[in-house]
Amino acid sequence: MKILVIGSGGREHALVWKLGRSPHVSSLACAPGNAGIAQERLRSNGAAVGCVPIPAEDLRQLLDYARSQKIDLTVVGPDNPLALGIVDLFQKHGLPIWGPNQRAAQFESSKAFSQDFMERHGIPTARAGTFQNPETAKEFARSLGGRCAVKADGLALGKGVLLATDPAESDAAIDEILVRQTFGAAGRRVVIQELLTGMEISLHALCDGATGQWFPASQDHKRALDGDQGLNTGGMGTYSPAPFLSDAELASVGASILTPWLKGCAQEGIDFRGILYPGVMLTEQGPKVLEFNARFGDPETQVYLTRMENDLVEVLEASRRGTLPQVQLKWSPQASVCVVLASGGYPGAYAKGKPIDGLPECDAMEHVKVFHAGTAMSEGRVVTNGGRVLGVTAWGRDLQTARDLAYAAADRIRFEGKHCRRDIAAKAL
Ligand code: AMP
Ligand code: GLY
Repeated sequence: MKILVIGSGGREHALVWKLGRSPHVSSLACAPGNAGIAQERLRSNGAAVGCVPIPAEDLRQLLDYARSQKIDLTVVGPDNPLALGIVDLFQKHGLPIWGPNQRAAQFESSKAFSQDFMERHGIPTARAGTFQNPETAKEFARSLGGRCAVKADGLALGKGVLLATDPAESDAAIDEILVRQTFGAAGRRVVIQELLTGMEISLHALCDGATGQWFPASQDHKRALDGDQGLNTGGMGTYSPAPFLSDAELASVGASILTPWLKGCAQEGIDFRGILYPGVMLTEQGPKVLEFNARFGDPETQVYLTRMENDLVEVLEASRRGTLPQVQLKWSPQASVCVVLASGGYPGAYAKGKPIDGLPECDAMEHVKVFHAGTAMSEGRVVTNGGRVLGVTAWGRDLQTARDLAYAAADRIRFEGKHCRRDIAAKAL
């Protein structure tokens, strides 16, 4: 099969790496990809993975490319092209593509849509309201004592959630989104949720339009600094399994979300084929969904795909074709840990173009894979090209082993301004 992956981050490198191990794949390209993706080779025939310089949001050019190259399967990594309707466009032209269509992708592209859906179908979530008017929004936030999460309705590069703990903060957050319009059109409406406390976990369910199967639990580290301090980021590291849920608990938490969700989709005629990724808070009152994403998490994918034992092509094809019950997801009992190496200053302003040393030493390590995120080639060298630069991923018989190995590898990599959290997976140990 000829496969095209869309996106350029660590998630897409992990997708390319895993797809490249499948005997079904005869050619693999990534648009636009990154320096690490360009170094991958297929296990089946040794062919190099090609990076195609088309941005992930340029649907027209992606369509033209997939048609001219006769791509057998396009795999969409990021949320933006899904929200723009890439799946609908490809399907209209008869091109096989994996991911939710535009209507189904609303679970991520509109927090108001998701919140209303959860309330309509009895999915456990925070108490919440959706507002356009700043004054009524502030009134609702005050009714929660100002302790709330104020969320821009639309996609805001993962930055559209402001947390408040008193009425002055909630007023300021509402003004920032609805009045100052910091997030533009994404902030025409806000969803305000009561502030929940507890352990936050990431769940992924692979869905095929009628059924779903859960992955094991994982945990991301969203804040920039150790001890969950500092600003929110795209994610500074992950690990799986996350030991806060036994298999039986995961099954029951999963069912409390997926059963009503699937029923609601069936009732409303929503055909969701892709990954449903709820962020879940394990509160004293039980698990509650904070938000839905409609794609693989980044960096959750890095730990999931280093544990997945199935052929990823077969798994994604079953999701796309609606034959998921014929597949049983299989996971290595080993633990996997991903430590993100970020540019100095991230998630604020940061420099690019810093040469990266130590990658070949890591390539030589067993049970280690360095997934590239924000990297590029410059004058024959791998250089930094984004906020999250690398996702150093390692696996071993338990979390402690995997974590020690991930940090041993992370410490061999050097670039000016390099920053990482030192406490990835610490909560689990
Ligand atoms: P979201 O993008 O909606 O997951 O929000 C980003 C981050 O804000 C989440 O990962 C949580 O850490 C935090 N958050 C979101 N909603 C809430 C809430 N209702 N209560 C507490 N924290 C929240
Ligand atoms: N791990 C955070 C995200 O993918 O949104």
